Amino acid sequence: MAHPVKLRRLSLFLLIGLALLAVGVAMLIWSSQDAPGAAVCLVGLIVTVVGVRQFFKQSYHLFRRDPNFQIKHALTRGDRYYMFMEQYQPLIAGQTDEIAVMANTAAALREVFGFFWVGFYLVRDGQLVLGPFQGHVACSSIKYGKGVCGTAWQKRETQVVPDVELFPGHIACSALSRSEIVVPVMAGEEVKAVLDIDSDRLRAFNNTDKNFLEKIMALMAKELYGQTTAPKQDPSPENEAATPSDE
Ligand code: SME
Repeated sequence: MAHPVKLRRLSLFLLIGLALLAVGVAMLIWSSQDAPGAAVCLVGLIVTVVGVRQFFKQSYHLFRRDPNFQIKHALTRGDRYYMFMEQYQPLIAGQTDEIAVMANTAAALREVFGFFWVGFYLVRDGQLVLGPFQGHVACSSIKYGKGVCGTAWQKRETQVVPDVELFPGHIACSALSRSEIVVPVMAGEEVKAVLDIDSDRLRAFNNTDKNFLEKIMALMAKELYGQTTAPKQDPSPENEAATPSDE
């Protein structure tokens, strides 16, 4: 299914271009306004050409089903998540191996969003153990309730951290990490793993990331464990007011 908002934007672009062209031609033919008519025609032509070019670029990504995750021309982060989810579903459909699914999930997220570090920590023998990831080497294990990851596990809710230095007990696997989001992977009431994404920029994550990443983790958990539960919602004001960082 194509993204309706984006298609509307593209159609509008083409419509304006074609309308300008029509007005320009009408001015040339019926009003003998040669110079203004030619100028309107030219602007109309440029807008139409840009619109057609954009349409082909976008439609390539909107309609393709090849799960290579080359989503480069989406306008906002929300658009990219939308397209990501369309292509993510077929990628993991029928896959039940945690390592395979998590490895592809981390690779796809990094490829599409260019995150600094993306990876999973799996619950193993009462602690979090490093799983499939993309990025620099990271801490091998994290204790229950410790750091951002251990807190997400303990509270069973997504942690959005705009500035890691302000998060008490943050574990700095990389000194370059400035902000972070951690989403628990739930099977029923049980936390099976956490998805950890780091950025080298402050305030890189907002509620768009939280909402979509929770949906993506729910899809993954359904495929892997046959069941899922949304993480608990944190009603605190700072979570609601997370600073937007859409590109
Ligand atoms: N910062 C995390 C540790 C994991 S690394 O960032 C990859 C935390 O505080 O739990």
